[in-house]
Amino acid sequence: MIFTVAIDGPAASGKGTIAKALARELGFRHLDTGSLYRAVALRSLEGEDPVAAARSLDPERLGDPRLREPRVAQEASRIAAIPEVRAALLDFQKGFARRDGGAVLDGRDIGTVVCPEAEAKLFVTATAEARAGRRHAEQVAAGLDSTLEGTLAEVRARDARDAGRDVAPLRPAEDAVLIDTSGLSIEQAVSAALAVVRSRI
Ligand code: C5P
Repeated sequence: MIFTVAIDGPAASGKGTIAKALARELGFRHLDTGSLYRAVALRSLEGEDPVAAARSLDPERLGDPRLREPRVAQEASRIAAIPEVRAALLDFQKGFARRDGGAVLDGRDIGTVVCPEAEAKLFVTATAEARAGRRHAEQVAAGLDSTLEGTLAEVRARDARDAGRDVAPLRPAEDAVLIDTSGLSIEQAVSAALAVVRSRI
């Protein structure tokens, strides 16, 4: 059995939380594809050529806590616009999705480019204000320097870059189900997502 759940959406929309919860609930493997771009970004910030970094990436080693830093997120959305970087990361993502069993992948172009054949597609959104509020709270909890205004500006800048690029821009697949998490608790968002996926199994 092969069953792929593709989850896309902008930064801090809740897609990662939903993806993890679905994978746990359904016993599926999970891949946070943003961490691939972040790993390339970290190496780019250290001076390496991003295309070379993407081609030699070890996807088994994505646990570096520095990957969550805001400067890495911004650099990730910059290097993610380079077509050769995206191409170098594609095979691993496709392979992960289509191995025997179930898989949940979350990112920006899963339903449109990586897994257009996914059995279930979700596009998770929330207002920029709601997303910035969540990200700001996470950063404060992690002891990072953060202001709400600065986080909102970062979220907007990343949205504009991710949706405006020529290759694999952030947009819902035609057959994706939209979930707006702005007014939802985590539990409500997860159960809405589960209902969609269960209806396809
Ligand atoms: O999801 P996350 O915030 O970790 O992603 C970091 C950046 O990586 C995004 O802003 C986006 O530019 C890029 N990305 C992408 N395609 C994906 C996943 C992430 O372009 N499938």
